[in-house]
Amino acid sequence: MPHGQFPYIRGRRLRSSSALRAMVAEHELKPADFIAPIFIMEGKDHKVEIPSMPDYYRYTLDRVMKEIEELQEAGIRSLLLFVKVPEDKKDNKGTEALNENGLMQQSVRAIKEQFPDMLVMTDVALDPYSSYGHDGIVKDSEIVNDESVELLAEMAVSHAQAGADMVAPSDMMDGRIAAMRYALDEQNFKNTGIMAYSAKYASSYYGPFRDALDSAPGFGDKKTYQMDPSNVREAIKEAKLDEQEGADIVMVKPGLPYLDVVRAVREHVSVPVSVYNVSGEYAMLKAAAEKGWLNEEEAMMEALIGFKRAGADLIATYFAKAASKLINKG
Ligand code: PBG
Repeated sequence: MPHGQFPYIRGRRLRSSSALRAMVAEHELKPADFIAPIFIMEGKDHKVEIPSMPDYYRYTLDRVMKEIEELQEAGIRSLLLFVKVPEDKKDNKGTEALNENGLMQQSVRAIKEQFPDMLVMTDVALDPYSSYGHDGIVKDSEIVNDESVELLAEMAVSHAQAGADMVAPSDMMDGRIAAMRYALDEQNFKNTGIMAYSAKYASSYYGPFRDALDSAPGFGDKKTYQMDPSNVREAIKEAKLDEQEGADIVMVKPGLPYLDVVRAVREHVSVPVSVYNVSGEYAMLKAAAEKGWLNEEEAMMEALIGFKRAGADLIATYFAKAASKLINKG
């Protein structure tokens, strides 16, 4: 340590002006990092605010177009589609999931037609279509793996036929990535990508989402397929397996309580890692801001940069539009 006035090393020097802070910032958010989740419902000329997700809406297909236009204007390049299926179309064999004129398939076609440059990803799982609210087929109170995988692979092909750029399996069945890759290739959808929800935890933070799609499990919980929040080594195992099975992107979900998992997965796979900043994370920030307990914009940006710092390349978030607008303002 040289002589002179203490302290010799001053960390605050690099924080002393806005220009310096910008120069040494280690991470940066850009609108192209975001994947915007979109909720679509049947009907015409209607949008409904999701009660547990203030300022977030479910749209009929005609009305969602204006929202997508706004997202595109804000610089967002990719969407993740979810559909709400009416009760009378739900069953235990994914009939509506495979309907080539189902709401998902129609939506993909219409959105790609109007926004050919927008990357359209689709959720692949049975829960919105399931009379039991489970992600797979139910037999004797069990969510059966292999039959579910066959159906999910068909569902992925159906989405690809409608024009999806990527499918996003969120079901957590074993072997579904390999099965989907095989099925897609066989039907000549070699360039349809797979974003695998690899480390998806059995989380209470999905509550508001299940309100949005009316997809809460009718019996039991999802703990026999979604992961135990105690585990991180298991997340690495799942992500590596999905990478080997052909996933183009792997995902960790939820986000904020699992930043260590994002970091661990980042260090063990070579494919891009995405994180899902889920509905409950959105809801808690919105609720605190509504009460005046947090500054919404600042808390939102701090959470989002936290994902980048943890190692995420992409962020699926209900804040996509709001954050992009702020970023664009500079
Ligand atoms: C269903 C699915 C869920 C979410 C995305 N896909 C819910 C669940 O597994 O019960 C949650 C997203 C969110 O909470 O924002 N396969």
